[in-house]
Amino acid sequence: MVDKATGSGGWRGWRAATRAALYGVDGTGGFYRRPEGPAGHFRTSVHASPLFAGAVARLLCRVDEALGRPSSLDFVDMAAGRGELVTAVLAALPADVAARTRAYAVEIADRPVGLARRIEWLSEPPRRLTGLLFANEWLDNVPVEVAEVDSAGVPRLVLVRDSGVERLGERVSGAEAEWLARWWPTADEEGLRAEIGLPRDTAWASAVSCVEAGLAVAVDYAHSADARPPFGTLTGFREGRETAPVPDGSCDITSHVALDACAEAGAIAARSAARAPADARLLTQRAALRALGVTGGRPPLSLASTDPSAYVRALAGAGEAAELLAPGGLGDFGWLFQPVGIPHPLDQPPQTG
Ligand SMILES: C[S@@+](CC[C@H](N)C(=O)[O-])C[C@H]1O[C@@H](n2cnc3c(N)ncnc32)[C@H](O)[C@@H]1O
Repeated sequence: MVDKATGSGGWRGWRAATRAALYGVDGTGGFYRRPEGPAGHFRTSVHASPLFAGAVARLLCRVDEALGRPSSLDFVDMAAGRGELVTAVLAALPADVAARTRAYAVEIADRPVGLARRIEWLSEPPRRLTGLLFANEWLDNVPVEVAEVDSAGVPRLVLVRDSGVERLGERVSGAEAEWLARWWPTADEEGLRAEIGLPRDTAWASAVSCVEAGLAVAVDYAHSADARPPFGTLTGFREGRETAPVPDGSCDITSHVALDACAEAGAIAARSAARAPADARLLTQRAALRALGVTGGRPPLSLASTDPSAYVRALAGAGEAAELLAPGGLGDFGWLFQPVGIPHPLDQPPQTG
């Protein structure tokens, strides 16, 4: 029987299946349009602690300084969920910077009720922005094809039905085969898998090309060419639990990001925007947040007797920082920094006063 939607008995590649499951068809349906939003199903760094938004606000201040404190400074929360990060960043900025900041949330889902009016809600990032574009856990949700090596050692596209049942399809060819050969070459061992990150490179390059001057940052679960996971990382999340990836709209579908490949695509975009060499840099979240002042140290015990409530607050902050910095957890996320026409902001000492 031939399926009316796909014309192929319901079999399609993971990219098309994920796109429909997460973002719906013809502007309706899809996991990410559901009213509860991402926070109803998993915890990102944004939900884990306001310390994360505080660090992003400090990064925006460094970009502001590198740009010479322009009269209008852009902050773009790319793939904004329900606008939690942009809201918290605005609250954490010093008043003089906040007054000059134009805040944007870029999302496929609808604008949430009650979001501050000063935040513009867009479906695409603004062109020619001056400031910081920050994408937390966006690229892992950009749908990709999955390849699997068959019994003859040939990588083939994996096809899937809405139920999650898979079979192998055509051999990987064209630009997708080139991407695999360059970024994720698979040995000829049957069953090895790889996620073909080409659409993420393209999406990231397009986001970076919107930055006329400033910085683009992508933060995600990541791997690089020296340590790709041999069976890929495709997985699902539903109501706080990891689950099998089933592309029926009932769960998130995500896979870790080849951020090194995105860095190269982004550097080409940054170079053509700034007409200057681009200094892409990849750090762990642990290193990036520490450089932005999130330390996770416990408060001195003496504070408990001099100011007990300050001690309790500081202790809670230390716990939240530990979660953001944790090895084996959020601390291992990758931060891809892509400056456009400015020096790398973490190389600049923070200004005081
Ligand atoms: C995992 S959530 C992250 C939300 C938020 N950044 C956070 O860290 O809590 C991914 C979000 O990306 C959004 N998204 C995916 N592709 C997008 C695109 N091309 N443009 C705008 N938003 C997108 C989804 O709708 C979803 O809300």
